[in-house]
Amino acid sequence: MNITLLKNNISAIINDANLKSNEKRQQICDVLRANVSYYDWVGFYFKNGTKNELKLAEFSGKPTSHKIIPFGKGICGQVALSNQNFVVPNVQEQDNYISCGIDVKSEIVIPIFVNNKNIGQIDIDSHQANPFSKNDEILLEYVCEKVATLF
Ligand code: SME
Repeated sequence: MNITLLKNNISAIINDANLKSNEKRQQICDVLRANVSYYDWVGFYFKNGTKNELKLAEFSGKPTSHKIIPFGKGICGQVALSNQNFVVPNVQEQDNYISCGIDVKSEIVIPIFVNNKNIGQIDIDSHQANPFSKNDEILLEYVCEKVATLF
C-alpha cells in the first residue's frame, strides 16, 4: 500500500468543493477498496441520533443486512463504547462478532472523533487472514481525522 498516495487522494476528495459530504465519504470508501487489495468491504457507521446504536452510512462492497448495530454488539458496537482501534486478525476467534458473510476472515474498525466525542467509525472487512499492519491504522486514523472535519 502506498500510504502517501492514498493520503493525498483522501485529502483531494475532502477538499473538493463540488462534492457534498456524503459524496466525499462514498468516494473515500470506493478509493480505499479499489486501491488496497485486501480491503473487500469499506463502510462508515455513525451514531443514530440519540439512540445507543450505529447506523450504516456510505459503503463500498457487498450490501449488508447489518444496517443498525446496537452499542456493545459485534466489533463495531464494541468500538462505539471503547473509543479504541479494534484490529481483528481472525474473526473466528471473536465471540462478540457479527458475521457479514463466510468470506470475511478479518476486520479493522477505527473510531471517528468530533470534539473528543466518538461519533462513528470506519469499518473494513477483508477476505484475507491477518492482513492488517500498523500502516493500516495510520492510514485509517488519517481518514477518520479528515472525515471528522465534515461534521
Ligand atoms: N462485522 C461487524 C458487523 C458489520 S459488517 O462487518 C459490515 C461487527 O462485528 O461489528
